[in-house]
Amino acid sequence: MSSIPVRLGILGCGNVGAALVKIILDDQSLIESQTGEVLEIAAIAVRDLSAERPSWVPRELLTDDPFSVATDPSIDIVVEVMGGYDPAKALIEEALGSKKSVVTANKTLLSDFGEEIAALARSHGRDVFFEAAVAGGIPLIRSLKVSLAAERVRRVTGIVNGTTNFILTKMSEEQISYRDALNRAQELGYAEADPSADVEGIDASAKAAILASIAFGRRVQLSDVSREGITSVTLDDFAFAKRHGYTLKLLAICEWVESAQGGEGSISVRVHPAMVPVTHPLASVRDAFNAVFVEGDSVGELMFYGRGAGGMPTASAVLGDIIDAAHNLRYGSMERHVARPAARILAFDELKYQFYIAIDVSDRPGVLAQVATVFGDNGVSIMSMEQVGLGSEARLIFITHLAKERALQKTLAEVRNLDAVERLVGFIRVLGS
Ligand SMILES: NC(=O)c1ccc[n+]([C@@H]2O[C@H](COP(=O)([O-])OP(=O)(O)OC[C@H]3O[C@@H](n4cnc5c(N)ncnc54)[C@H](OP(=O)(O)O)[C@@H]3O)[C@@H](O)[C@H]2O)c1
Repeated sequence: MSSIPVRLGILGCGNVGAALVKIILDDQSLIESQTGEVLEIAAIAVRDLSAERPSWVPRELLTDDPFSVATDPSIDIVVEVMGGYDPAKALIEEALGSKKSVVTANKTLLSDFGEEIAALARSHGRDVFFEAAVAGGIPLIRSLKVSLAAERVRRVTGIVNGTTNFILTKMSEEQISYRDALNRAQELGYAEADPSADVEGIDASAKAAILASIAFGRRVQLSDVSREGITSVTLDDFAFAKRHGYTLKLLAICEWVESAQGGEGSISVRVHPAMVPVTHPLASVRDAFNAVFVEGDSVGELMFYGRGAGGMPTASAVLGDIIDAAHNLRYGSMERHVARPAARILAFDELKYQFYIAIDVSDRPGVLAQVATVFGDNGVSIMSMEQVGLGSEARLIFITHLAKERALQKTLAEVRNLDAVERLVGFIRVLGS
């Protein structure tokens, strides 16, 4: 068993950084007995030296000069848990250039520069690990990268944003409006004062880009992800879902689509709310939990479930990465890294879905026929229809058969122009098999 300590420079001491410091200090002997590694925190970079810190954070290790940590020759591994692009990207580059391995939880950065950073690490003979960047404490990245390295993954479908899953769970179970559920999430600290990164699906899109890159071995970036958030989901949508055996979830879906002409397939990556059959394993994922459902040719169906955020779960994933990086440094080895060619991204409007559509209409003779004609003219076939309410309160709700997104959007544009149609009040894609 080794006793030469591995020296860590931690960039950031917020939710994740402070939790990591606590685990390392509290569990020193467990870490050594289970892994053979002795971890020593050499320095912790923060922005504000005068800010209050948890009692266990050693004050003497704090610095407000993160670049001195990234380049310190006595440090072996740099742990970036500050977040954002700037200065995190430059710090990671400095650390790799100074021959340190890097562990990061930074999904924002990786969703745009993951491949660039991995290539830089490789050129310096060092590792960059990022288990915590997607789904916090859930051991998902390593499972995809290592255990499923040669699996033909067909689809990865995830609930990867705890805040939106909490909001949708409250709407579903307590019948409170989106606004009230968001307020509740903010009171409990699940949602930021500005919740847009969560509720507009931006955070989930960054994670989807990272997942797709790893699952399919292609370079997928944030700009490749089609995105729709949860802000227009209503209690009426939930009521319909319940009557028909669905629930509503914000899903990140990464899919490999074979080419009809032969040759290289393409990748679809999208984030949007979806009607999920209550029998699907993802339907039972409640509150702020995350889960990712993986479908592969040989392995079949897998589901990863757990805490996708929070200081401690995230720090647990970071610690696992630190141990791997330390092991590799000690034995002069490196993580396997294969350069990923750019992905061929399938245009979102080429995808086929079933759709849930709710339209408020004036209840007068012939309205249904008019609406149905527009659907038919665009080749969108209706699987089921129900009418709720009468007179000026009438609402038509449709579930379509599989149809192309492009045909559906054209249908909706034309339906909106019908005199008898007052407004489109619900439009949600249905998760198929
Ligand atoms: N929180 C989670 O549940 C979670 C889950 C998965 C992944 N992550 C990722 O983990 C990373 C950290 O998240 P977090 O929640 O711990 O963030 P946080 O609480 O906001 O902490 C950020 C830390 O970085 C420090 N910092 C920021 N800019 C700095 C600069 N220019 N120089 C020096 N220090 C700087 C801050 O210093 P001060 O304390 O002085 O302000 C703070 O200690 C992010 O990439 C996030 O996406 C977080």
